Amino acid sequence: MNIKSTNKVILAIETSCDETAASVCINGKIYSNVIFQQEDHSNLGGVVPEIASRAHLKKINQVVSNSLEQANISITDVDALAIANGPGLMGSLLVGSGFAKGLASAHSIPMLPVDHLSAHIYAHFIDAPIPELPFACLLVSGGHTFIFEMNEKYQLSLIGKTIDDAAGEALDKCAKLMKLPYPGGPEIDRLSKMGNPNAFVFSKPKVADYNYSFSGLKTAFLNLIRNQEQKNPNFIEENLFDLCASIQKTIVDYLIEVFKKYLKYSQIRNIGISGGVAANSMLREAIANLGEQVDANFFIPDLSYCTDNAAMIAKAGDMQFDQLKTTEPNFEPYAKSPWKK
Ligand SMILES: Nc1ncnc2c1ncn2[C@@H]1O[C@H](COP(=O)(O)OP(=O)(O)OP(=O)(O)O)[C@@H](O)[C@H]1O
Ligand SMILES: [Mg+2]
Repeated sequence: MNIKSTNKVILAIETSCDETAASVCINGKIYSNVIFQQEDHSNLGGVVPEIASRAHLKKINQVVSNSLEQANISITDVDALAIANGPGLMGSLLVGSGFAKGLASAHSIPMLPVDHLSAHIYAHFIDAPIPELPFACLLVSGGHTFIFEMNEKYQLSLIGKTIDDAAGEALDKCAKLMKLPYPGGPEIDRLSKMGNPNAFVFSKPKVADYNYSFSGLKTAFLNLIRNQEQKNPNFIEENLFDLCASIQKTIVDYLIEVFKKYLKYSQIRNIGISGGVAANSMLREAIANLGEQVDANFFIPDLSYCTDNAAMIAKAGDMQFDQLKTTEPNFEPYAKSPWKK
């Protein structure tokens, strides 16, 4: 179909880590959200950058074609290419932006470089109900733990962040210690349902202002396992469910505790969670409880918009269309983010 003259059509590409993804957004509505999840890393304990780049290269053409096809448009209908421009693995980002540059040059389409972390927050605006502004959001992903505030002009300010590891990273590392496959977060979520969350107690770190720290929790978990395994070599197997439930509860309680402190101070009454760890069932319940406690409206993105996806890149590109600097196809992926100084 030829829709170019009357509509704002955005094709988004996301290749920052181990998902090859593309999405089409027309006039603010998502028409396709194609994700190819690389499986090659699950027994390797984490994402191997070289393997990820090669897998993106293998799949990107098909993923982008499927995305256009599902939206029933062709590349000539596209007004802008929104590209996840970092943070992420440089080799993986290069595959996405290199592919987009080819499309941009061949079809004279401008490119919109989109910050991947901001896009996790913009995921809240894909489907109703969307948050009223100002909106405070806890971004808990694989590599980052941030508290953001979005003002009435949809601009983000960074309120707090982890001073070391991210919450997702801590979950993944604890899972690895228990010999669970990567990514460990979803495994811990699943196994926790059968465990006692109060079986093991870990003290929560104290960090100034609205910041977090997760590296001490990870070390406390490691020390517990090492000490107990000396007495009982089957300690992990015999206590797997309780270990998962206890570390998950500690991390979720801690995330909510600091966020609540900020909500009390700011009096913001529209709150949410974003990022891969926002898929966690206990955190989803906890944000709903927090909403009740502080009398706030709470927002949780659909599961498909929590972990990496291109729909959030498309939505961020759409909402920031006028502010984002559209570029000629010769921009370089910056791999960083405005939020990482
Ligand atoms: N159900 C779940 N429970 C807990 N953690 C989860 C769940 N599902 C996914 N995760 C975690 O989410 C993280 C991946 O999220 P995401 O895809 O947003 O991260 P990323 O893109 O790699 O990092 P970033 O966005 O910070 O660059 C992993 O740490 C994974 O373990
Ligand atoms: Mg992410």
